[in-house]
Amino acid sequence: MRTVAVIGAGQMGSGIAQVSAAAGYHVYLSDLKLDLAEKAKANVGKALNRLVEKEKIGTQEAEITLGRIEPVSGYEKMSDADLIIEAATEKEDIKRKIFEDVGKVLGHQAILASNTSSIPITRMAQASPDPARFIGIHFFNPVPIMGLIEVIKGLATSDATVKTVRDFCGALGKEVVFAEDEPGFVVNRILLPMLNEAVFVLGQGTANIIDIDKGCRIGLNHPMGPLELADFVGLDTCLDIIMVLYNTTGDSKYRPAPLLVKYVEAGWLGRKTGRGFYDYSGTVPVPTR
Ligand code: CAA
Repeated sequence: MRTVAVIGAGQMGSGIAQVSAAAGYHVYLSDLKLDLAEKAKANVGKALNRLVEKEKIGTQEAEITLGRIEPVSGYEKMSDADLIIEAATEKEDIKRKIFEDVGKVLGHQAILASNTSSIPITRMAQASPDPARFIGIHFFNPVPIMGLIEVIKGLATSDATVKTVRDFCGALGKEVVFAEDEPGFVVNRILLPMLNEAVFVLGQGTANIIDIDKGCRIGLNHPMGPLELADFVGLDTCLDIIMVLYNTTGDSKYRPAPLLVKYVEAGWLGRKTGRGFYDYSGTVPVPTR
């Protein structure tokens, strides 16, 4: 495998492009407009420069890695990609449209993957040209730091596809866990009910933001408290995932916390909008309640 394409140049897509380029792959990085993909490449450049400053990599390695990332608009160039990873927004209709469109140029041996955090792989495979070559590759944020990738096999995914993807993840230096195609897979099935419950605890006035986060950080030895982590993931993404769990299982234990819904309706989506459960406009995050 030589060439990887990443569709969606947001936080996840940029991180996937960075680690793929660092592992030696040529990377097409695309977004709706070319300038968004170019900006994402510039951000990867900044992240690589920070690694140079910390003496984790040399200047030449940073330049070579960055040089492997080719911002593109549209999908034509991806016809020679061996692996295409969709990392667009967590909305099934948007992802299905991408699979239909990029499916027209997908090489005969190439694999199409989704970085979805919770949407069923078997169902989305129906929008791809060959479900045997469709698979879930779920990265964790921040991609260059987190050591795990979840690999999710759809009902029709072939063993050859799984093997190629497992080898690719290994080449990125990541550990792999395999998950069946059940809602939320493994990690988000466990994580999202916890984040959602933290918002219930806040909404019911059991404790304030500081104490909820401090309780889990110190009491559970987690690097971030659940509200901090929800802001980091994005409250809209958290709501999207919990709604997938709720709608696909019909189990009321996954009902979204009303306060989470309200924050999303207010456009307070966490770090990316400058405000979620914390306000990020100053030098240190300040709790908003
Ligand atoms: N990108 C790249 N590197 C980053 C980074 C980013 N966004 N944020 C921090 N880092 C690096 C720092 O440069 C630093 O590197 P060095 O040790 O080499 O100096 C290292 O990470 C530690 O960073 P900091 O000292 O600044 O801060 P920290 O110790 O508080 O760590 C953190 C930051 C790594 C993000 C840590 O708080 C953490 O692990 N948080 C939990 C993250 C998590 O749970 N992610 C999964 C979210 S769920 C998900 O992604 C799945 C989904 O589908 C929703």
